[in-house]
This record gives sequence, structure tokens and C-alpha cells, in this order.
Amino acid sequence: MDRIIIRGGERLIGEVKVSGSKNASLPIFAASLLAEGENLFHNVPKLRDILTIARVLKNLGVKVQGENGAYRIDATEVSNNEAPYDLVKTMRASILVLGPLVARMRKARVSLPGGCAIGARPINLHLMGLEAMGAKIDLRSGYVEAKADRLKGADISFDTTTVTGTEHLMMAATLAKGKTVLQNAAMEPEVVDLASVLKKMGAKIEGAGTSLIEIEGVESLHATEHTIIPDRIEAGTLMVAAGLTRGNIKLHRCPFHNMEAVIHKLRETGMEIDPEGEGVRVIGSRRIRSVDVKTQPYPGFPTDMQAQFMTLMSLSRGLSIITETIFENRFIHVNELQRMGADIRIEGNTAIIQGVESLSGAQVMATDLRASASLIVAGLAAEGVTEISRVYHLDRGYEELDKKLAGLGANIKRVKEKD
Ligand code: EPU
Repeated sequence: MDRIIIRGGERLIGEVKVSGSKNASLPIFAASLLAEGENLFHNVPKLRDILTIARVLKNLGVKVQGENGAYRIDATEVSNNEAPYDLVKTMRASILVLGPLVARMRKARVSLPGGCAIGARPINLHLMGLEAMGAKIDLRSGYVEAKADRLKGADISFDTTTVTGTEHLMMAATLAKGKTVLQNAAMEPEVVDLASVLKKMGAKIEGAGTSLIEIEGVESLHATEHTIIPDRIEAGTLMVAAGLTRGNIKLHRCPFHNMEAVIHKLRETGMEIDPEGEGVRVIGSRRIRSVDVKTQPYPGFPTDMQAQFMTLMSLSRGLSIITETIFENRFIHVNELQRMGADIRIEGNTAIIQGVESLSGAQVMATDLRASASLIVAGLAAEGVTEISRVYHLDRGYEELDKKLAGLGANIKRVKEKD
């Protein structure tokens, strides 16, 4: 298992390119199951989660070829309808193949994802929606088995806003007979990117990006070509890194307009973030002001930026309160930040952070994707050496973050070790 070793204290200076979005790529890969023909997707990030969804598709008999961020996916032949436990357990988003398989092939068997470090993360709303569209769902031996003649349009109202739930049912509805209405739908940019792909494939969708999405089912879809949007969470993580090191960096391909809540909060801490030419200039301030944050579905402050923002607040001048409203156990980074000297107290779903003068390097352990990012950025700002183990979590969702930070002047290296 690789480790990352950082000697903190270097200011980040320079230019860096934001990679394609993980959470847009995953449902878009699953969407290729909806049609015959070869799709071509550009700007796909090099990540472990992308390799996992590619394996899930290959296991279904789909042809998947990827090179330099471009993926050709051809689901003309789907020879199997099962996504096995071994693949799904490593990545929950694998469940997204269920709806497209039922919609096009009329049946599917997909392992239930099981528990997750950041919360229970049930998929009841995904299944409720597929049932409302006429699928017969059985849970047997840890698998969801779904069958349907042609799915039929339905009125579905989510009682909790769910990103992949919205994406899942939007995909299934494209081939259903009649109209599907999704109420209280997720409005995330990744949902909008998926809708763009589906529309290019011939789907009739209106309202993606609002809380009401309407899909008029069609008989069949066709393959398409698409460039994945840049990753707003990677961009936000790089911004926090600059904020923690009094850096001055320029982000290329930064999805500025999809990051309003994050940019607003970072500016409140004293950072300067402004469009500059094709990119975005990010300048850290000498004093980090403390700011309160509450995670919310988009367009609110994203839960996927909460851990990194907490690191920033650990070095602020004052007290800040961070409230996590999306996942019940997403403070797993706190223990490790405390070991680096952060002053954080947890009360229920709230973290109370008293800023300290400095963090000190320590041996820490990554426990999930965004937790590992928060420890990396903590290491950049800490005095001395920070050694982060279990960085496979980081590699699931950040394309070569260590190399990008090194390119900006960080003293960071990866030590490769055999498993
Ligand atoms: N929920 C239910 N029932 C459901 C589905 C969700 O109760 O059937 C609950 C969840 O337990 C949670 C809330 O609804 O409390 C919202 O979860 P959501 O379904 O929106 O999360 P997700 O779709 O599983 C995606 C991202 C996550 C991101 C969340 C929230 C992908 C592949 N994953 O997950 O990304 O944190 O939305 O924005 O898009 C990450 O990239 O690190 C990551 C975890």
C-alpha cells in the first residue's frame, strides 16, 4: 500500500489543470448500457473508481477501451446481466448499472452495496423508483434482482434528495413507456452533465438542474460523444490547499460557475478567488478568518468539501462551526486532524473548531476519499513531516493529486509499497 510523505511549509505557486469529474463520469459510463453503438467520452479522469466501473461494464460483456482520458464504450452486446459483490463492494456507484440494465435488457442482478465508512447510505429510494416504474424487485442473498417488461413512466417524489438516486431513475426513465416526473430531484452539476449525455443519445429530458425533472420515454437511444465536466471537488480541494499555504495558483479548466457556495465561503475566510483569462486565480491570505459552514445538497456547500474545509478552519483565527447534514458519520478525519494538533470537538452532527497557530506533522491514516484529501492539505500546512498511509482511498477519486501538488512546489512524495 502506497504512502504519501509531505514536508509542510511550502507555499503553492504555479498553474494546474483540473481533471474530469469522477461523479459525472460514473453515471455516464453506466448510461452507455442504454444503447447499442460505440460511445466516446473525453476528459475521463485516471482514477481507481473509473477502473472499477469499467470492470463492472466489461463483466457485463460491454467493450471498454480507455487511453489518455478518452474512453470508447460499446454496449451493443450485453452478454451478462449481473454485477457481482466483488466489484460492487469496492464502489457503491456500481449500483447505477441496475436501472439501465432493466430498462434495456429487462432484467438485472446487482449486488447490494453494503455499509460505507461515511454512513449507512441505503438505496431504498433507487429501488422505490424502479418499482414505481413497474420493475419487480427481489432482495435475495445480498443481491437486488430486478425484472420488468418495458418500464413505464411514473410520478416519483424523493423524500430525501439523492444524487445517484436521481441519476439512476433518470437513466431508467429514458426508455420507459410514457412520462416520468422526478420531484425533489438532485440539482448537482453531475446530474446535468448526465442529462446532457442522455439527450445527445436521443432522450427527452427537461428540467435537469432544477428540482423537477421530466422524462418522456423513447423506444431506443443511440451512442454519442461527450466531454466530461471538470471536477468541482478537486478544484475546491486545490483552492483549500492554496488557502492553507498562502499560495498563489491558477486553476485551468476550473468549473467556477458550479462552485458558488464553496467560493463564497473561501472568500469569507479572506482568500481571493477570481476568474483570470480562461482560468481562475486563487490567492491565500495571511490570516485565515473563521467561517461557519453547513453542508447541503447543491447549490449548497457540498459534503464532499467538508473535510478539507475543516482543515482550513483548524488554522483559522477564531472559532468555527461545521454542520454535516448529508451523511451521519462524515467526521472520521477529525481524530487524525486532532493528532496533528487541531482543536476540534464533535457534538452530534456538528464540529466546533477552535483555530490553532500551527499543526504539526504526524503519521496519519486515510479512512475515506475526502478524509484523505483533508489530511494531505493538512500536511502541506503542518510543521515537519506528515506521513499518510492507506492512500488508495485518495487514488479512488483524485487524479495524481500528489503530482499536481508537487508541480505547484509542495514537498510531497509517494512511497510505493507492495500490498
Ligand atoms: N439516501 C437514502 N436513500 C437512498 C439514497 C440516499 O436515504 O436511497 C440518503 C443517504 O443516506 C444520504 C442522502 O440520502 O444521507 C444523500 O445521499 P446521496 O444519495 O445524494 O449520495 P450518493 O448519491 O450515494 C453522491 C456522490 C457522493 C456525494 C453525495 C452527496 C457519486 C458517485 N457519489 O453519493 O460522493 O458525497 O452524492 O453529494 O456521485 C465522494 O465523491 O467522495 C462521494 C462520497
